[in-house]
Amino acid sequence: MTTAPQKTASERSEATEHDVAVLRDALGLLKDREQVAERLLASSAKHSFDPDTELDWVSPVEDGKWYWPPELLSLYDTPMWHRMPHEQRLELSRHEAASLASLGIWFEIILMQLLVRHVYDKSVTSAHVRYALTEIADECRHSKMFARMIEKGGAPTYPVSRFHHNLARVLKTVSTTPGSFACTLLGEEILDYMQRLTFPDERVQTIVRGVTRIHVVEEARHVRYAREELRRQMVSCPRWEAQLTRLSSGEAARVFSIAFVNPEVYTNVGLDRREAVRQVKESGHRREVMQTGAKRLTDFLDDIGVMRGVGRRLWRSSGLLA
Ligand SMILES: [Fe+2]
Ligand SMILES: [Fe+2]
Repeated sequence: MTTAPQKTASERSEATEHDVAVLRDALGLLKDREQVAERLLASSAKHSFDPDTELDWVSPVEDGKWYWPPELLSLYDTPMWHRMPHEQRLELSRHEAASLASLGIWFEIILMQLLVRHVYDKSVTSAHVRYALTEIADECRHSKMFARMIEKGGAPTYPVSRFHHNLARVLKTVSTTPGSFACTLLGEEILDYMQRLTFPDERVQTIVRGVTRIHVVEEARHVRYAREELRRQMVSCPRWEAQLTRLSSGEAARVFSIAFVNPEVYTNVGLDRREAVRQVKESGHRREVMQTGAKRLTDFLDDIGVMRGVGRRLWRSSGLLA
């Protein structure tokens, strides 16, 4: 006679935790999806912007101003930075801002597809779907706004590598819902941290401050929507899917930290690209900026059970988790 394999104590407690969470969800103790979406729709109606008319795209850029706060530039406080003349540092800010805006557009296009896939099977009249469509409209405006900002600064666009471009093609086509929302938060929260420091900074170009202000206001809703949905999904999804989410978000964090600044920016401002990449990797200041930017997200993911096992190790190797 065969006997069923005994569960370990940790497996038993994980199972109980999971069952209790599903029960809580069923009893409606988790925040109601429709209520959250209704609130986000009301906020969207009040605080949404059309960047084409809201921002001054006609005035020329200002001489001597930064395109990104210097402390948030990848090379800040490295030996290379200390040797760079002021003009070259300003140039680096112009190219890094274009690189981050290019990354932002890449992420938003991925996100739009994930949201379209998310609502495909849901009730079209629900507030949850109406809000997803509102968010897609926000991201359309953001991507056009970032593209205009790159053009205005006169730096080139900086696409991610061919490999990462194609890796994301697979991810955005096959990822399941919780994995999609975990990646959404990864893209939104770290850039959001930098943008919150950028828009009030008077050393920064007016157009960049305007773009980041609009983005921060509208992204706050996106972060809320993704968090609430991911929290719900992590308690109700099958165990294999929760495990897959831990792995895929850890891998996405690793790719994200590599793709964050396109190394071509260093070549374009006249620096030795390999040496610059090496110094950024070794920079304690940079590590601190990235980990501080990711902290709100990593704490949240830890709280809802995404930061476990191999997933946690991948997050560590990305350098985003202390
Ligand atoms: Fe956006
Ligand atoms: Fe967003």
